[in-house]
Amino acid sequence: MATSSERNWSSAYTRNHDLGALAARGAWLSRLQRARRILDRLDWWHVDEWIASDLWSFDDGDAALLLTPLDLSEADALDATCAGVAWLRWCAVADGRSPAAHLANVFGEAEARLASRGAREVWCVVHSSEWIKPYLRDLGYRVVEQLLTFQIAPWRVSNAPLRLTGLQVRPAHAADLEALCALDARAFDEPWRYAPALMRRAVARAFATTVALYGGSPVGYACAVLHEGNGHVVRLAVQPELRRRGIGAELLCDVVMRLARAGARVVSLNTQAGNYAAQRLYRRLGFAPVGEKLTVMRKVLAREAMGGTA
Ligand SMILES: CC(C)(COP(=O)(O)OP(=O)(O)OC[C@H]1O[C@@H](n2cnc3c(N)ncnc32)[C@H](O)[C@@H]1OP(=O)(O)O)[C@@H](O)C(=O)NCCC(=O)NCCS
Repeated sequence: MATSSERNWSSAYTRNHDLGALAARGAWLSRLQRARRILDRLDWWHVDEWIASDLWSFDDGDAALLLTPLDLSEADALDATCAGVAWLRWCAVADGRSPAAHLANVFGEAEARLASRGAREVWCVVHSSEWIKPYLRDLGYRVVEQLLTFQIAPWRVSNAPLRLTGLQVRPAHAADLEALCALDARAFDEPWRYAPALMRRAVARAFATTVALYGGSPVGYACAVLHEGNGHVVRLAVQPELRRRGIGAELLCDVVMRLARAGARVVSLNTQAGNYAAQRLYRRLGFAPVGEKLTVMRKVLAREAMGGTA
């Protein structure tokens, strides 16, 4: 998240399908581009792609928000009923303006609109600096989680021998998608779980998606992106019954090596501060924590907002 000294925003609500309108917001986009370094270590969406995507954007001329409904439908993300959780991707307030007043405006409008489309909660990762945290607190957002970032120079990754005879690891195919969605749904709780449309999009966007097969069936997967020499593992999941047999390590090593062969100088990933299993796995393979902890905040949308009109 970043503050902005440039004021080039006009309408209260836009769909990012409208590339012409966005192109006219040069200052707004340049702010977004500056957040890239952090966002590239957090997400599989490149900032450039947001512009051409169906994120929701709101602004009042002095503050702007960009949100994603988690459950993106194929046909029309905006008009689809959300899975219930929308994520704030980015937020800026013009310098010299009152963040409290302008954020109240844009969040008020965004939350009412999201609620009217079926969203129950808004979540956000506070990054770049924590300037927005007190304002979000005043708007009813509460800290629910901290995220850690780990990193490795890919040639340093080291793995123990696999303990599961008959495990196969190979690049994922389009035909694996349904199984990957099922695995994801079992591995992650809301709001971290990927809806099928989001999964399809993430896999299509990924540089490398690796699937682990046991007895011919997918039992785990890992998915990674590559941006200008930075690899980022965006997803790693193993079927609960087959954990602690080396599958997660095998998957992670495979995507890291694929990234290394493609020229990645570093590979990063994130996990929740409370996910000790994942952290032990990462440390064991040689990943080390980097940067600051990222705060995750959440707001449960008020019932009265649910009655709002779209
Ligand atoms: C994290 C996850 C992918 C690990 O997969 P896995 O196949 O069980 O991992 P591995 O068997 O390769 O584990 C390798 C090492 O990691 C550590 N580890 C993995 N799971 C652990 C656990 N539950 N408790 C403690 N250490 C653990 C251990 O050091 C382990 O080696 P060991 O078994 O010899 O002690 C799996 O638990 C999972 O799918 N969790 C839910 C989704 C998730 O949290 N994804 C990653 C974060 S975004």
